[in-house]
Amino acid sequence: MSLLLAIESSCDDTSAAIIDHGMVKSNVTATQKIHEQYGGVVPEVASRKHQSNIIPVVTAALEQAGVEKEDLSAIAVTRGPGLLGSLIVGVSFAKALSISLDIPIIEVNHMMAHVLAHFAEDPKPEFPFLCLTVSGGHTQIVKINSPYEMEILGNTIDDAAGEAFDKTGKIMGLKYPAGPEIDKLAQKGKVVFEFPEPKIPGLDFSFSGLKTSILYFLKAQLKENPNFIEENLADICASVQDRIVTILINKLVVAAQQTGIKEVAIAGGVSANSGLRSAFENAGNQYGWNTYIPSFEYCTDNAGMIGVAAYYKFIQKDFADLSLVPDARMKF
Ligand code: KG4
Ligand code: ZN
Repeated sequence: MSLLLAIESSCDDTSAAIIDHGMVKSNVTATQKIHEQYGGVVPEVASRKHQSNIIPVVTAALEQAGVEKEDLSAIAVTRGPGLLGSLIVGVSFAKALSISLDIPIIEVNHMMAHVLAHFAEDPKPEFPFLCLTVSGGHTQIVKINSPYEMEILGNTIDDAAGEAFDKTGKIMGLKYPAGPEIDKLAQKGKVVFEFPEPKIPGLDFSFSGLKTSILYFLKAQLKENPNFIEENLADICASVQDRIVTILINKLVVAAQQTGIKEVAIAGGVSANSGLRSAFENAGNQYGWNTYIPSFEYCTDNAGMIGVAAYYKFIQKDFADLSLVPDARMKF
């Protein structure tokens, strides 16, 4: 039998899931709304919220799956990368439960789990496949050779794509996280403002220059017209989104050409963006890719993907021991 409890607490979502032979039976996430008022995630607050959320979330995941904790075979937990204070809550909880139930722990890399989220549903990509992982903390192009072997082909050298949405949204006075709001407004606007595409060699990304150029552009416009943002909000959002999406898709196209891979996926919170989804599908049609986008539940941070990733380790009996500690900068 393989019944796993998976726990995710790397940033501001407390999540627990039950995975039965690699299939997600329940996936319960408590999102911490409290950070909206601060315009970003406050690490100490996130850590305390995880402490109060974790028992109700785990209890709900067990109940929804109709599973008793005594039936569990192992506990999977995100070891990193993420916020240290947030990771500590999940890892400590997993260790305590593993001692009390006398079952093993499986450590999971959060970024590998985003990529393996594609195996929570059908159709599943075939190996090797490429995945563009875009979230509030990461922007990577990964080549996945097997569930155990992945290679990062490109990475952001500064801000992540989600940060580019959130920070430009903040400049426009939008609430955190601004990504979903920009997406909504962009659908009503037109791409009329030109923002520069950064000249970064290879498959790496950079978004901090874009943020600065938008800031200077808006400052200049506001001098002429103090109502410029309100009057042009939808068009500014459409233009910002179009630029971020073009940067992402252009690099993904190069990665696919260089590797000759036609199985291509996107993952992470930003893959919920409607502009990115349609540009990705268009690129897929143009270049003959098989494209994969997980449902929203598996795009954002969730324990289901942690459990799916852990299942591959469970099969191999790749267990951690009680000396396990979080690794905020965990690499592949
Ligand atoms: O994967 P995720 O839930 O958490 C992290 O690991 O960061 O991603 C959150 C990020 C935020 O930056 C948020 O603004 C962005 O994903 N996001 C979006 C959309 N939905 C979420 N960005 C653009 N368009 C969206 N529809
Ligand atoms: Zn994430």
